[in-house]
Order: sequence, then C-alpha cells, then structure tokens
Amino acid sequence: MNILIINGSPRKKGLISQMLGIMQEEVKNRGDKVQMVFTNDLNIKPCIACMVCRTKSKCVLDEDDSQRVLKMMQEADAIIMGAPCYWGNIPGQMKLLFDRIVYGMMRDTPRFPEPLMKGKKCILVSTCTTPWPWNVWFNQSHGAIRALREICRYSGFKIVATIERGGTVMHPELSEKDKNKCRKAIKKIA
Ligand SMILES: Cc1cc2nc3c(=O)[nH]c(=O)nc-3n(C[C@H](O)[C@H](O)[C@H](O)COP(=O)(O)O)c2cc1C
Repeated sequence: MNILIINGSPRKKGLISQMLGIMQEEVKNRGDKVQMVFTNDLNIKPCIACMVCRTKSKCVLDEDDSQRVLKMMQEADAIIMGAPCYWGNIPGQMKLLFDRIVYGMMRDTPRFPEPLMKGKKCILVSTCTTPWPWNVWFNQSHGAIRALREICRYSGFKIVATIERGGTVMHPELSEKDKNKCRKAIKKIA
C-alpha cells in the first residue's frame, strides 16, 4: 500500500508530528510505502480565484509544489492529514495547498461536483490547546476536523478514523492512550 501523510503543523516535534510519526512507523513496519509532506516546507503561491482550472483542469499559475503534492495524492492509496487547530480551522499553509489543487480533487459539473479521489481511505488528526470537551463543543480541534471533512467529502475520500487531541499546553506529552489511538486508527487503512 502507498500511504501519503500531509502534516500541516510547522512544529516538527509537536503533538501532530508525534502522532503522525507513530502512524508512519507502524505502516513502515508492516511493509507499506509511506511518505510525509510538511506543508510549511512547501513553496506554493496562493490561488488567484480565476476559476480557469475548473474548466481546463490545469492551474494558470507557474508550476510549484502544489502540483507535486497533488501527484503524490493521486498515486497514494490512502492519505493521513494532520492539522493543529488555528482559529478553529486548519493552518493557512495547508489551506493554501488545498485551494491550489481543487481541480485535481473534484470536477465541477452543472449538477453535483464529481469527486476525483474516490475510494482512497483517509485518517484525520487534529490538536489544540483548548482542553476536552471544549475542544469539541466549541469547534476548536473539531473546527479543523470539520474543515478537513469538507475537503474530503467533495474529493471523495472515505474517512475511516478521526483523532482529536485537546489540552496541548496543559498536557504536552502524548499518553499511552493517545499513542494507542494512533496505532488503532492506522489498522483501518490496512
Ligand atoms: C496561529 C495560531 C492559532 C491558534 N488557534 C487556536 C484556536 O483557535 N484554538 C485552540 O484551542 N488552539 C489554538 N492554537 C494552539 C494550537 O492549536 C496548539 O498550539 C496546537 O495544538 C499545537 O500544535 P502541534 O500539534 O503542532 O504541536 C493556535 C496556535 C496558533 C499558532
């Protein structure tokens, strides 16, 4: 299996990175191919909203890392997306990536959008400083998950697991329970 991890956190030793790291190790150990992309390392210009890609299936801007990641997504069997909550949403650099590759993820039709990533399994992970249960009730980590769900729904991904971890300031270390959640989730994309 070919698995792509999209890490939306700029903190390479933060909790998102640690959780995605556990999943990466698990799939590597079972013999899958796995690659991790850090959105903050990508060179991507913002979408200019010309909408040309919706009819031409190609972006008018010069090629940059967005096309490279889109190709990796197209080649992957399953995708893991990790996003810390920023303002109840996903980080800007990660949004920039998804804005630039809409045309490769869904096709506009006169009726309903046609999903182009159909059949690919997906795991969503989010963290935030707001502790549980307020991280869920007040749409903090839950807001980031909601935003990723929106992208996944229209692209046709099948979400097989979501993990939300609140209270990252009060509890900055992953517990055994957190680690086990990651190991359990990854089994769903075997
Ligand atoms: C720009 C910015 C905005 C943030 N907005 C929120 C927020 O709306 N709610 C919240 O609970 N935490 C917020 N945080 C805290 C992060 O979600 C928290 O630091 C994150 O869990 C840690 O990320 P990591 O998993 O990459 O270590 C924000 C942090 C930054 C840098």
